[in-house]
Amino acid sequence: MPFNMTQISPKVVCLGSLNMDLVIQVQRAPSEGETVQGESIRYVPGGKGANQAVSCARQGARVSMMGRVGTDHHGKVLCDALQKDGIAIQGVQVDPEESTGVAMVMVEESGLNRIVVIAGANGKLSLDESQLVQELSDAQFLVMQFEVPMEQVLQAAKVARRLGCKVVLNPSPAKILPEELWSLVDVMIVNETEARFLTGLSPDTDPQVAAEVGRQLIANGVAQVVVTLGALGAVATDRGGCTYHPAPQVQVVDTTAAGDTFLGVVTVGLASNQSLTASVDLGIRASTLCIQTMGAQPSIPTLAQTLQSSSVPSWISL
Ligand code: RIB
Repeated sequence: MPFNMTQISPKVVCLGSLNMDLVIQVQRAPSEGETVQGESIRYVPGGKGANQAVSCARQGARVSMMGRVGTDHHGKVLCDALQKDGIAIQGVQVDPEESTGVAMVMVEESGLNRIVVIAGANGKLSLDESQLVQELSDAQFLVMQFEVPMEQVLQAAKVARRLGCKVVLNPSPAKILPEELWSLVDVMIVNETEARFLTGLSPDTDPQVAAEVGRQLIANGVAQVVVTLGALGAVATDRGGCTYHPAPQVQVVDTTAAGDTFLGVVTVGLASNQSLTASVDLGIRASTLCIQTMGAQPSIPTLAQTLQSSSVPSWISL
């Protein structure tokens, strides 16, 4: 079902990392002790927080970014990139000492990637309560991941909850959640690795196991859970039940930011009062487009591009 473009666009605050991605294309990643010849290297704006902000903005949401960069050239390029997407950056701090976060992204011919992140300024993010209140008081959703300090994530979730703003958490890279964070999360979006870390279950090839992951995370206090399964699609779970959303099969160029694209689309869908199933279907269409282009932010589609793409197979109740 297409989104209603006539309604006032929702406001989303994205609190998280901004990284300059060094994207290295190789035929295959080297084994231990081996040297391989790469094909190319590119500098591409990335970082889970910034990518998710871009995805929300390209869906038509009003977006504010909260994060931290260095005084270096990378920081300026990343902020400029966000502004080109109409994202407000008054919540992006500039660290006088640390350099901007960097991610080394190695992309194999298969399109699969391996990422090493150097947190830099992301690791020094420190927000005061008044800043959070200012950003969140008129927002519908707060989106966060784990590439910034956990205390900041927890503090922001508490402020958001107090102000009636819903919290979307992508616990990536996977870490143990502080006990009190669970009940502050409205929507949790996890991939197979994060699902395994949080529940001990391996949903990789089985949507029924992904549904069980969803049920376990809901039992921990989260209201809605989506488990992404790469080429297999995603499983959405809420107290009403579980649905499996298969993904169309396409030629993969680079999977970087597919999860970030998906999260942004689902968040804006929910913030626009779409159902979880409709939002997940649209998220799968958008991430299917994303994986057919190289790089993080350049590969995130707009709402119009997503709506023009072919529809996905129908979802199935589990
Ligand atoms: O989710 C993809 C992102 O993870 C990359 O852009 C990289 O910067 C890392 O944060």
